[in-house]
Amino acid sequence: MIAKINPNTQYIGLNIIYFNQIDSTNNFAQQFLLENKAENGTTIIAEEQINGRGQQNKTWISEPFKNIAMSIILTQHNKQHEYAFFLNKLICLSVFKVIKNQFPSNLVKIKWPNDIFVDHKKIAGILIENSFSGKTINNSILGIGININQSFNKINNFQANSFFDILGKETKREPIVKELLETIEKDLENQNTTEIAEQYEQNLYHYHTKGMFIFAEQKVIGSIQSCDEYGRLNVLINNTQHLLSHGEITTIIE
Ligand code: BTN
Repeated sequence: MIAKINPNTQYIGLNIIYFNQIDSTNNFAQQFLLENKAENGTTIIAEEQINGRGQQNKTWISEPFKNIAMSIILTQHNKQHEYAFFLNKLICLSVFKVIKNQFPSNLVKIKWPNDIFVDHKKIAGILIENSFSGKTINNSILGIGININQSFNKINNFQANSFFDILGKETKREPIVKELLETIEKDLENQNTTEIAEQYEQNLYHYHTKGMFIFAEQKVIGSIQSCDEYGRLNVLINNTQHLLSHGEITTIIE
C-alpha cells in the first residue's frame, strides 16, 4: 500500500484520497466534482483500477499494488479552450521531468501527444479530461499512470517498459508521487508558457531526427519540426511539411 504522502505544495495533493481498489481514479474524480466535493488539487490514488481508462476509449491495465495510478483535480480554473493542449504539454513535461530524473536523460522522450517513453517503450500514459462551460474550461482531471514495479520483460514484443525492467530492482513509489505533485504545482504556476511549449517540443520522440511514421496509410520517413498550440504536428516528409492532427499520423516505434 502506498504510504501517506506529504508533498511540499500549496494545493496540489494536500488532500489525497487513497483506495485499494476502485473502477478508475478519473471516474471517481468526475463523480467527486459532480457532487461539489472536490477542492483544487484534490488527488486520488488507487492501488488497483477495475476499469482503468486510457486514451481513445482503450483500457489501462496495471498490476495491483505495483504501479502509480492517480488523478489530480483542478477546479474552476476558467481557462480558454486553447488551454486544453497547453495543459497537456505542461503535464506531459512534468511527468517527463520526474521520470528523466531516474534514468539517463537521452533515453526518455515524450511520444506525441501524451505518452512518456523510456528506451523506445511506453512507461507512462496521461489522460486529461476537461469539463467546459461554453468555450471555457472549468475543471480538469489529470489522470496519470506510471509503470513502476510491474515487469513487462517476459511478455514478448510488448511495447511497455517499467522502472523495474530498466533498473532491475524495485523502486519506492512514494518519493516519485511526491516529486510529481510538487513538480506539477510548480509547472502550473510557471507563467512562462513559451518555455513550456518549447521544452515539450524539444523532447518529443523524433524531434528533428528521422523516424518511421504511418502517414496516409503508408510507411514513411519523417522528422517532427514543431507542435502548435492546438497540438498539431508539423512533420517533414520527403522535403514537404505537413500539419497533422492526432489520428492523421502514427509514430512507428523502432
Ligand atoms: C493512455 O496512455 O492511454 C492514458 C492512460 C492513463 C491512465 C491513468 S491511470 C490513472 C487515471 N485513471 C484512469 O482510469 N486512467 C488514468
